[in-house]
Amino acid sequence: MAKTKTLFSCSNCGASSPKWLGRCPVCNEFNTYIEETVVDRKKSGEYRGFDETRMSSLADINVKNEQRIKTGMEEIDRVFGGGIVKGSLVLMGGEPGVGKSTLALSIADKVALAGNKVMYFSGEESLEQIKLRADRTGVKAEKLILVTETGIEKITSLMEKEKPALAVIDSIQTTFKEDLDSVAGSVNQVKESCAQLMYAAKKSGIPIIIIGHVTKDGNIAGPKMLEHMVDAVLYFEAEKYYQFKILRAVKNRFGSTNEIGIFEMTNEGIKEVKSPSKMLLDSLKDNKTGSSIVTVMEGTRPLLLEIQALTARRNYGIPQRTVTGIDYNRFLIVLAILEKMLELHLENQDIFINVAGGIKIVETACDLGVAAAIYSSYKESKVSTKMAFIGELGLDGEVRPVQFIDQRVMEAERLGFAACVIPARSAPVKTTMEVIKIGNVSELKKLI
Ligand SMILES: Nc1ncnc2c1ncn2[C@@H]1O[C@H](COP(=O)(O)OP(=O)(O)OP(=O)(O)O)[C@@H](O)[C@H]1O
Ligand SMILES: [Mg+2]
Repeated sequence: MAKTKTLFSCSNCGASSPKWLGRCPVCNEFNTYIEETVVDRKKSGEYRGFDETRMSSLADINVKNEQRIKTGMEEIDRVFGGGIVKGSLVLMGGEPGVGKSTLALSIADKVALAGNKVMYFSGEESLEQIKLRADRTGVKAEKLILVTETGIEKITSLMEKEKPALAVIDSIQTTFKEDLDSVAGSVNQVKESCAQLMYAAKKSGIPIIIIGHVTKDGNIAGPKMLEHMVDAVLYFEAEKYYQFKILRAVKNRFGSTNEIGIFEMTNEGIKEVKSPSKMLLDSLKDNKTGSSIVTVMEGTRPLLLEIQALTARRNYGIPQRTVTGIDYNRFLIVLAILEKMLELHLENQDIFINVAGGIKIVETACDLGVAAAIYSSYKESKVSTKMAFIGELGLDGEVRPVQFIDQRVMEAERLGFAACVIPARSAPVKTTMEVIKIGNVSELKKLI
């Protein structure tokens, strides 16, 4: 049995120290150090890292093509970078109740339906509870094996014996290593379990998906401190009461981190949303006041989203600005540009911005659309819901070119839009729809 020693670890960031500290020197949080027992590796001689030293020139290393398991769910495969890489350890984090188990069970089902053996280890729910969820969500793969086990040694030895094509651990906070005194879910238990799973994945080539809970500020013993240990980190997120749930890669050693997968939670389980723009925009029939359509890129995929703005006169006090879905500082810049270039008096207006569907826009290509929505609400004049706005605003009011203009315009055309407003300096775009080029934000006056 491995020898152990006592350490103090920060429950916020996972840093450790031989003595108790009032304030963590790494994350600067107060009162986060807790006493734990850890395996003393120097004394136990237990494995950490590779078994042996290997050295070779780059040219002499032969590797087969990266092997990936496809789930057949386009939204999932894209986020994984084209399928789950064999031998990879993937952390799937998310707030409690967001649907991590449901999503993981669907992934396991899809892989098992293709004729692979898949093991789903649960430390949170009984076999019957998982079966109920499987029945409700239409999961019925015969080669899906459910195991209720939390001991990490038992989990890895079962995996070695059964050799599944994919393993899911639900969740890392419930797994524990027997020779550690601390409770499951504590910093060292979580770290140790993760290290063991990493070793098991690399040794056996079995890809492992581990599920981890995070709170809103992401600071419990779990996903945040495991991020550097695993190959890929995916976050499953959803704004409460919004339609979509989004799987986002924040780290991926085998693919891009720009990609997102969009899902919807229905009574029948998790459904992929292949054309979110269409779903969001279908209900938009008439031209509206205080609303504009923008195209934003989420990874390689253009999305058309509705930006809603409301300006309302306030006769006393400091006007309120409330923004959801776009960057607040960027919004303030757009406001200042509108005040200066279009001579709008926004200083006595409450202004609210919302992006329909609960999607967060992180790029500046929506500036023109935000300006159009605010202008339209302020002037109470309608904007065509068949017109898409694309462009970044410079501080002098210039509408500046943005990347991927072709894809953005083509997506608008595909969804039946009549016109696109794009920056004047953009390269020519091949399209049959009307393209309106504008060089300055003041030209919005002619369109709205
Ligand atoms: N009978 C049901 N019908 C419809 N939706 C359901 C039903 N039961 C659960 N759900 C939905 O499933 C989601 C919870 O799924 P799931 O248990 O996969 O989440 P989780 O992230 O794994 O949660 P936890 O943190 O508790 O493990 C919730 O959004 C809930 O609304
Ligand atoms: Mg769960």
